[in-house]
Amino acid sequence: PIQQDLAGQHWVITAGPTMEAIDPVRYISNHSSGKMGYALAAAAQARGASVTLVSGPTQLDAPQGVKRIEIKSAEDMLSACREAMVKPADVFIGAAAVADFRMKEVASQKMKKTGDSDEMQLTLVKNPDVIATLSQENTAKCMVGFAAETQDVIAYAKSKLERKGLDLIIANDVSRTDIGFNNDENQVTVLSKDQQWTPPKESKSALAIELVELITQYQSTK
Ligand code: PMT
Repeated sequence: PIQQDLAGQHWVITAGPTMEAIDPVRYISNHSSGKMGYALAAAAQARGASVTLVSGPTQLDAPQGVKRIEIKSAEDMLSACREAMVKPADVFIGAAAVADFRMKEVASQKMKKTGDSDEMQLTLVKNPDVIATLSQENTAKCMVGFAAETQDVIAYAKSKLERKGLDLIIANDVSRTDIGFNNDENQVTVLSKDQQWTPPKESKSALAIELVELITQYQSTK
């Protein structure tokens, strides 16, 4: 049996893509499968934490014993997280791939091809940064983000750690086709302000167990 040492703690974890409507039938999204975030939710729950999983659209079943809240857009994700953390959570993990932009105005009817132009322009506006907002609002004692990067992975991750006010950031090289988005395996580097850890490449579920342990150890030193 797994030790229930996280009993009494509340962890809030985001997972999957967001889906930003263009019109009633189209949307902007990305390749996140939710596997990484769901594995983290299962690993924290297995150690006794009460887990709220705020999830974009995925093919996955909610892990046993985890409370899942399903959302579509980044704005909905932010509201659902705030609601889950009215009482501050112990840990927040942002594993979701949140769309940085949404339509300025969602068309109320299906957009039509116009006969006279081969081009089409969509006007987008910035979405709220879910994790940076929650971090500013002190909604969790320990804030953990991911950084999906295709180049200068560590440097960009470090700057996100600072800019978004996080305790830890999990840097993911998404230029590699053998890890990251939609794969069953992943390899990451975890960074704090002054330390860094690189667990081996392994299944997302094995990695999630190690990440939950790392976060738990970091929490105890805070
Ligand atoms: O879902 P899988 O297929 O298993 O793939 C896992 C993953 C590659 C999606 C995951 O490991 C990962 O890297 N997730 C973060 C993806 C991402 O959007 O990274 P980012 O570098 O753009 O964002 C940095 C951090 O800010 C993330 O914690 C993200 O959740 C958060 N963010 C970003 C934009 C935004 N508007 N709001 C946010 O909260």
